[in-house]
Amino acid sequence: MLEVEVANLKLKNPLILASGILGSSVSTLNRLSEDFGAVVTKSVGLKEREGYKNPTVINLSCGLLNAVGLASPSAEKFADELKKFNRKCKLIVSLYGNSPEEFEKLVTTFEVDAFEINLSCPHVKGLGLDVGSDVELSSKIIKIAKRSTDKPVFAKISIFHSLELVKKLENAEVDAITVSNTLPAMKIDILSKKPILSNVFGGLSGKAIKPIALKKVYDLYEILEVPIIGCGGVTTFEDVLEFAMAGATAVQIGSVMYYSLDSAKIIVKGLEAFLRSKRCKYRDLIGSAHISTG
Ligand SMILES: Cc1cc2nc3c(=O)[nH]c(=O)nc-3n(C[C@H](O)[C@H](O)[C@H](O)COP(=O)(O)O)c2cc1C
Repeated sequence: MLEVEVANLKLKNPLILASGILGSSVSTLNRLSEDFGAVVTKSVGLKEREGYKNPTVINLSCGLLNAVGLASPSAEKFADELKKFNRKCKLIVSLYGNSPEEFEKLVTTFEVDAFEINLSCPHVKGLGLDVGSDVELSSKIIKIAKRSTDKPVFAKISIFHSLELVKKLENAEVDAITVSNTLPAMKIDILSKKPILSNVFGGLSGKAIKPIALKKVYDLYEILEVPIIGCGGVTTFEDVLEFAMAGATAVQIGSVMYYSLDSAKIIVKGLEAFLRSKRCKYRDLIGSAHISTG
């Protein structure tokens, strides 16, 4: 009822743990693997990164504001750590870097089911969104990654990315598009008159961004052939259904896991009850909200 396929990757359900939400700990991924169709790791690059000083994550009423700064172990160390993953769901490694050569090395470092290229982290200069804003560079990165691995390569973009970029990525034979990462945002402490995050600004996730991410999925479904993985503000099974109807083959959840580690389990139960009552399968709903002009 819930099985889906994203670029030949068979998932037992359409829920994917979004990158970075629970750090780089394999023990946490092992704990959650039964609930998810796939998990995406924290983004890693070739070298270890310390990230920003605290505070790095703030809980706002409308979601989370974070500027962790892509803190992560080196790819080599992390690849070793991931050997302990229990494989109860598919494993996707998120990668950051700023040159095609780096991604060529990165994709050959891991034994995983797929890769997600981070073209959209909004708060680290020279990485993520800065790379994704360069259409030619992003396209080269996808081409070289695809040439260097036989595993599916996904690109994670931002709501702000142009349709031109996405079409270029499709031409570069990307296997799926994940949309979206967090959106640039900030909070100011009115007593000290200073930004609260050590990095001054960060990325907003959670409930506040859901309607915006949903619209982007809807727009992309109109122009893309490759599968879309929706992400942004999902907290309930109804949110997942909206993303499916807008055109998402699978849906990532992130911030909601901060509030309960059982979120995926609860969402899956809701999806099953809904689909049973409607006598349909999840995959029958993908793109069903699109109005036919024919
Ligand atoms: C604390 C935190 C760390 C994150 N780290 C990463 C990361 O390393 N790589 C990445 O691509 N996205 C990262 N994200 C973005 C999420 O994967 C996701 O795209 C975003 O939070 C929107 O989904 P949500 O509203 O369900 O949380 C992070 C988000 C949070 C809140």
